[in-house]
Amino acid sequence: MNVDQLKVEFIKFYDEGDCHVYFSPGRVNLIGEHTDYNGGFVFPCALSFGTYCLIRKTQNDYFQFRSLNQDKTYKINLDSITKAFPKGNWVNYVIGVIAQFVKNDGDLKNGADILFWGNVPNGAGLSSSASLEVATGVTINQEYNFGKTQIDIVRYSQKAEHEYAGVMCGIMDQFASGIGKKDHAIYLNCNNLEYELVPIKLEGVKIVIGNTNSPHSLDEGKYNERVEECRVAVEAIKPSKKIALLGELNPAEFNLFSDKIISETVRKRARHVVTEIERTMKAVENLKQGKLEEFGQLMNESHDSLRDDYEVTGFELDSMVEAARKIEGTIGSRMTGGGFGGSTVNLVKDEFIEQFIEQVGKEYTEKTGIVGEFYVAEIGDGGKRIE
Ligand code: GLA
Repeated sequence: MNVDQLKVEFIKFYDEGDCHVYFSPGRVNLIGEHTDYNGGFVFPCALSFGTYCLIRKTQNDYFQFRSLNQDKTYKINLDSITKAFPKGNWVNYVIGVIAQFVKNDGDLKNGADILFWGNVPNGAGLSSSASLEVATGVTINQEYNFGKTQIDIVRYSQKAEHEYAGVMCGIMDQFASGIGKKDHAIYLNCNNLEYELVPIKLEGVKIVIGNTNSPHSLDEGKYNERVEECRVAVEAIKPSKKIALLGELNPAEFNLFSDKIISETVRKRARHVVTEIERTMKAVENLKQGKLEEFGQLMNESHDSLRDDYEVTGFELDSMVEAARKIEGTIGSRMTGGGFGGSTVNLVKDEFIEQFIEQVGKEYTEKTGIVGEFYVAEIGDGGKRIE
């Protein structure tokens, strides 16, 4: 759907008249997985698909929220705008963000009619929820003149996910959705939020996303379990070396102290984190020097570590990655995002993309019985008003 069509939909629900249009993207992470909440490096980019938010402020004392992707619509009074709905209500992502403005910056004096539409597939590990949160954040900030920075909005969006969705996520997804730039990836230090926009110039190669169509569900506890395991690892190492986060250790230091971690499982989790941070640093260096093959090799190693040490891949993701690596023109293939289903990210030479999509799709379906989907990624801009 394009913006004009969305405006027509807006008027079908609400009255005739003007509305403003905002957009915030989903993301794909190239490397640096499960490192963000450990204070490590990530390297995501914003996609050209995401969530649109159409708004018209009113004189009413209530908000109306509709989504073209969801059946349920909501009419919420201003005096209860921060109150969470039971789990599973999509509006929680929206009011979770509005609640941060109310808490930190003051009440909203009047309501608005709002319509959302998103084209990030849900559960594909491409941050549909972060794009909804950041789209809400940029809209509310500008329409209500809160004057917050884009980074403030990113933080509010992450908070919304913690407090209203119960997922103790890091900051990568919201950061990519808020700060992304066309044809660039974001090399982000999640410890201090310093970042560099790195141009993605892939001569003769494209980023291909493979959606396993096996939905990941982060709120089912597995994600929070990993966050907790990393905390346990830090506690075990602390008496020997003062650290607050695993990201403060390089692999050599980790080897010195790893025997302090009693649980074999927790030790594996920590090993993934420290080696993944190192891989991410090397990968970005390689990319800057145009060494794509080396970058791809590190992507492969990243997946293997997520599979063996972090155990967040699963049959579907592993099957798709295995199939991808058989294609001659595949430079690197790994899962992307939280894992447990979702998508893979692949670097594929132009002349092999057609073959890639056909053969990987075929082998994946033969193995899993599920039909996957493939998109050639376009890297877009972060959240903003577009009309
Ligand atoms: C999810 C979270 C992110 C990040 C990734 C794994 O997408 O929302 O904060 O932890 O998983 O890298």
